[in-house]
Amino acid sequence: MSSESHDAQPSDGVAQPTGDEVARPPRNDIEPAEPIENPGLPEHLPRPTDVDPKLEKRAERQVAGMFTAAIILTIGFCVAYFTIPKDAVIFGWFSLNLALGLTLGGALFLIGIGAIQWAKKLMKDHEIIEMRHPARSSDDDREAALGVLDEGVAESGFGRRPLIRRSLIGAVAILGLPAIVMLRDLGPLPGNKLFHTVWRKGMRVVNDVSGIPLRPSDIEVGQLVNAQPAVFFETDSHGHAVFHGTELLQAKAKASVIAVRIRPDDIKPRKGQANWDVDGIMVYSKICTHVGCPISLWEQQTHHLLCPCHQTTYDLADGGKVIFGPGKRPLPQLPLAVDSDGYLIATSDFHEPVGPSFPEVNQHRD
Ligand code: FES
Repeated sequence: MSSESHDAQPSDGVAQPTGDEVARPPRNDIEPAEPIENPGLPEHLPRPTDVDPKLEKRAERQVAGMFTAAIILTIGFCVAYFTIPKDAVIFGWFSLNLALGLTLGGALFLIGIGAIQWAKKLMKDHEIIEMRHPARSSDDDREAALGVLDEGVAESGFGRRPLIRRSLIGAVAILGLPAIVMLRDLGPLPGNKLFHTVWRKGMRVVNDVSGIPLRPSDIEVGQLVNAQPAVFFETDSHGHAVFHGTELLQAKAKASVIAVRIRPDDIKPRKGQANWDVDGIMVYSKICTHVGCPISLWEQQTHHLLCPCHQTTYDLADGGKVIFGPGKRPLPQLPLAVDSDGYLIATSDFHEPVGPSFPEVNQHRD
């Protein structure tokens, strides 16, 4: 390398550096990096089942045992589906859902474990190297594959044996039937259930945890109380809860409410709802009209109620109007009064469906 300046005098057709240019080492002075050595494949060690026929036979029996148990569990699933009543609880903990989950889950688990055992213990385990190649087959290969397919169709007699063809198509088509049978679990159509809750005229509004009926004096200005209809805490003449189990959960999912107290001067009632509060106490559905989350994030200064799921915000001083978020309908309000004992009561059911909207939500249903 030289730092002396000299004129560019091409002698072999290559320009020489001038005094102003920085001389760089010729490219062939850079040493190429060492190539990575191919580590090759590790030495193949035979497994116990490769060398001992007894172990091989035992592994085979284990795998077959798992697959057989999977068959039995699948049949158990079908038997449980048709024989165990939906609401039955056996030994205080065993139910239809548990039986279905255990049998089908167990069958899938055993098939998976059996397949893994088969592959690990019995299938050949030598390494195979496949070189990369273009994904698309050559035209010759494609033509050959189509030829093989045509030949297979011709040899199978699929076209010549309509009886087999039709019965096969029928057998495959009917495989969709079990999926349709399971639709039974969706139950009968809802009828007018979406338009009603358990709230009735004269039903008391009670604290949702203690079941104690609420008086107007129990709720201060700015306070929010989670509440329920009194019927969820009542018993029949035999001492049994009027609502229990799934029925209670379904009824609660529609009838849960919140009671809030706002200064009467701040309230702007919706049309036709002027007398639905008691001294500023208003009861609204607790179920968001977007997709049905329960709401109780309350901001007492602004009278805003925020749904934690997708932030729909309702103004409870303004008839439950949506002021932000994806909800499309105001929060339904329950008309309120006080009974002769001084407790808060509903004067009717909600006048509109509670919870998420649906296509017929604005149609009147008795
Ligand atoms: Fe309330 Fe979506 S469920 S905002």
